[in-house]
Amino acid sequence: MTSLLEVQGLKAWYGRAQVLFDVALEVKTGEVVALLGPNGSGKSTTLKAIMGLVTRSAERMQFDGQEIAGLAEYQIARQGIGYVPEDRRVFQGLTVRENLSVAQRPPQNDRVAWSLDGLFSLFPKLEQLYERRAGEMSGGEQQMLTIARTLMGNPRLLLLDEPSEGLAPVVVQQMRQAILSLKQEGLTVLLSEQNPAFAEGLIDRSYRMDRGRALAAGKSAV
Ligand SMILES: Nc1ncnc2c1ncn2[C@@H]1O[C@H](COP(=O)(O)OP(=O)(O)OP(=O)(O)O)[C@@H](O)[C@H]1O
Ligand SMILES: [Mg+2]
Repeated sequence: MTSLLEVQGLKAWYGRAQVLFDVALEVKTGEVVALLGPNGSGKSTTLKAIMGLVTRSAERMQFDGQEIAGLAEYQIARQGIGYVPEDRRVFQGLTVRENLSVAQRPPQNDRVAWSLDGLFSLFPKLEQLYERRAGEMSGGEQQMLTIARTLMGNPRLLLLDEPSEGLAPVVVQQMRQAILSLKQEGLTVLLSEQNPAFAEGLIDRSYRMDRGRALAAGKSAV
């Protein structure tokens, strides 16, 4: 498998405080890779650094062979990386339909674009709530909408920051099933996660983060 994302020597700062120290990781095409680790270990910051949302420097940060360390968020998104942050980022005053339509972006190369039907089979709830305003939906429903609208941008790599966080157990299972379906369709995913039960049987590999460093934990370790 070829490497879709390759990161070496990644450092990041909030103001003058350095929080990532030489993070190295790799995600191959079609893999689901997890960043595990305790609160404050740098999982979210690693995803933000890949997206260009924090001050960072890297010896190497390549997406599909292109250097992205010098690019801004919108340029990185345009290269084909979709990012779902911890805090659900949907337009509260817009309906599901409107949220999805503003996020639409054509796929790169000759890949098939996500259709509404495809998104509805992934998240059936969104079809029932199609004309509902996001601000009038539950946290879990908004989380599904956040992922769905990111998929409307037709990314080749999906970054998911703690997709199961704060969700009721039944919704956690729906979320896990949706990510499993994405994996079966061949989408490449890098996610952060604290819940080992969520990652079990879903991820191919993981990195354990500890105080701003990432250690490869291998295939089975969760
Ligand atoms: N906006 C910010 N400003 C300053 N420091 C921050 C900011 N966000 C995070 N940090 C610090 O950076 C370090 C890494 O935080 P990060 O959010 O990446 O951890 P995390 O592994 O995602 O934790 P969690 O499991 O709680 O989500 C922590 O020491 C945290 O306090
Ligand atoms: Mg986090």
